Amino acid sequence: MGTRISGVGMYAPPRVMSNKDLEKLVETSDEWIRERTGIEERRVAKQGTPTSDLAAEAARCALEDAGIAPDAVDIIVVATFTPDMLFPSTACFVQSKIRAKNAFAFDISAACTGFVYALSIADALIRAGRGKTALVIGAEIVTSILDYTDRNTCILFGDGAGAVVLTECPEGEGLLSCHTYSDGDLWGYLHGPGGGTAAAGTPDGEEAPKRVITMSGNEVFKHAVTRMGEVSLEALAVNGFTKDDVDLFIPHQANLRIIKSVGKRIGIPDERVFINLAQYGNTSAASIPIALAEARAQGRCKKGDLVLMAAFGGGLTWGSALVRM
Ligand code: UT7
Repeated sequence: MGTRISGVGMYAPPRVMSNKDLEKLVETSDEWIRERTGIEERRVAKQGTPTSDLAAEAARCALEDAGIAPDAVDIIVVATFTPDMLFPSTACFVQSKIRAKNAFAFDISAACTGFVYALSIADALIRAGRGKTALVIGAEIVTSILDYTDRNTCILFGDGAGAVVLTECPEGEGLLSCHTYSDGDLWGYLHGPGGGTAAAGTPDGEEAPKRVITMSGNEVFKHAVTRMGEVSLEALAVNGFTKDDVDLFIPHQANLRIIKSVGKRIGIPDERVFINLAQYGNTSAASIPIALAEARAQGRCKKGDLVLMAAFGGGLTWGSALVRM
C-alpha cells in the first residue's frame, strides 16, 4: 500500500506588491530584483489575516479537486513558520474552518522545506494505518515577519497557500519516495529569532525582539544549490530513474538563479522546470504546492507524469519528493 496525490489546490491573496512598490520602501530597484532573483511581484495578505484563512481556501480547492468531502479527511498537516498563534496549531484552525470534524490536525516546522516534510509525514501515517485520507498544506504569511528596512530579505518573500489531498493507492504508484534532511549546525544562516524562548522578553520588562527573518543570502544560496541538486539526484537513483524520465521538475521557488543552477546539476532542461517565482516570490512552505496546482491547471502536469519536487530552507533543511501523478 502506498499513497497518491488525489487533489491539488492553491490560494493567494489578491493584493499584488510589485518591485516598483518596494522601491518606495527600501533602497532597491526593479532591475536589481529581477536580475538577481527573477521576482517581479508578490502577493501580500491584509494585515491581521490568519494564515489558516489562506490554508483553508487552498484545502477547500484541493478537496473539491479530489471529489472528497471534508468529513472524510483523517489527517491535516500544515507546514508553516508563520502560524496563526503559538498554539493551537494552524492545522486545528483549518480543521474548524473547513469542517473536517473527523481529522486529527497538527503543524510542522521545517521552513521552506516544510511541504516536503509534511508530505513525508502524512505518507508515513497513512502507510502506518493512522488514516486513509490526509490534507497536506503549505501556508505562509511571510510578509508578517519581514523587516521592510532590510533589502536583503524584504524583496524576496510573498504570501500564499497550497494543498494536496493524499489518499491510499497500490504500492509503486503515486508518491514514490520522500527524502528529508537537516543540518542544525547551520541554523544561523536563516532564522527568525523573535517570538521564541531563545529571544523572549524578561520579567524585568525587557522587550522581546521583533519576529523577523534574518538571512546570510550568499551562504544560503550556495547550500541550496548543492543540497537541492544532491537530494533530487538521490530521489531518481533510489527509484531507478534518470533525469530523462522526469516530466516536470518543481523546485522550491526562492531565486531564479538557484533554480537554473539546480536544473543544470540534475540535467533537466528549462522547458521541463516549472517556475512561477516571478508572480509570487518565495512563499516558503507554500511554494511547491502552489506551483504544483498551477502546473496542473496549465496542463503541464498530467495524470501519469513523473514529477520531481525539491526544497531547501531554514534549519537548514532540505528534501525531495518523487511522484507519479
Ligand atoms: O527559501 C530558501 C531561502 N532563501 C534563499 O534561498 C535565498 C538565497 N539567497 C539569494 O537568493 C541571494 O543571495 C540574494 C537575492 C538574497 C542576494 O543576491 P546576491 O546576488 O547574493 O547579492 P549579495 O548579497 O552578494 O549582494 C550584492 C550587492 C551588495 O552590494 P555591494 O556590497 O556589492 O555594494 C548588496 O548590498 O547587492 C546589494 N543588494 C541589493 N541592492 C539592491 C542586496 N540586496 C539588494 C536589493 N536591492 N534588494
